[in-house]
Amino acid sequence: MKVVATRPELRAGRAGLTGDVAVVMTMGALHAGHAALLRRARAEAGSLLLTVFVNPLQFGPAEDLDRYPRTLEADLELARAEGVDLVFAPSREVMYPGGDPAVRVDPGPLGSVLEGASRPGFFHGVLTVVNKLFQLTRPDLAYFGEKDYQQLGLIRAMVRDFDLPIDVRGVPTVREPDGLARSSRNRYLAPAEREAALVLHRALRAAAEAGSVEAGLAEYALVPEVKLDYLVLTDPMLGPAPEHGPARLLTAAWVGGTRLIDNLGVRLNGPVGEQS
Ligand code: PAF
Repeated sequence: MKVVATRPELRAGRAGLTGDVAVVMTMGALHAGHAALLRRARAEAGSLLLTVFVNPLQFGPAEDLDRYPRTLEADLELARAEGVDLVFAPSREVMYPGGDPAVRVDPGPLGSVLEGASRPGFFHGVLTVVNKLFQLTRPDLAYFGEKDYQQLGLIRAMVRDFDLPIDVRGVPTVREPDGLARSSRNRYLAPAEREAALVLHRALRAAAEAGSVEAGLAEYALVPEVKLDYLVLTDPMLGPAPEHGPARLLTAAWVGGTRLIDNLGVRLNGPVGEQS
């Protein structure tokens, strides 16, 4: 496995990759969710490229950019174990040599609801760095987690709207045995917060079983220390909820100083399941 940090090194490393090249983009602090992305990509592609970059553009001024976990040595160990061929771990100066970019990708209307409404500028930052990393790594395939469901939808939309020749594949959320979705931010949670955070998954399950958000809101009401941001039922493209058929439940909440998100695929008036 080669580890590179500059554009010339990346160009040389990329030239040595064979077959279909898959990229998995991350901000590091890798966990079992990232491992699932890498494993799926490893199984489906000829070469596997991992990017590790904590992208300042997608953090608001009051958010956790400074304390976001940076664990490169452990990340490289996991990458090696998952058969990664090439790791690109650039500095901020390498990614944004002229300072933060003035031109950014506009996520459009889908970028201004849910996460976009609560975190203004977030999806501009995500799509801008994903677009840059697509240009720099030139993958055939790209794997993103369904845990960030709105992000996945917006990346698919960008690839479609910008005619990028990349096959974007979603990978189901990986959960702890008690249901908590794997997230790099889980490591911020104190034990009591970790317990309280289970309400996100409980609320999604309750809403899925009832086919409406009210049952999920009732779960949140039992854990007042968790501050709900949203719990919504939508169609799979995040439009208005359908009467029946495939739909998506999405939630975000503050557990102490940590903001967590989660979502679940459901079939209204049909069997419940974690479907994509
Ligand atoms: O999902 C993430 O970790 C980030 O938003 C991504 C896609 C790596 C862009 O910084």
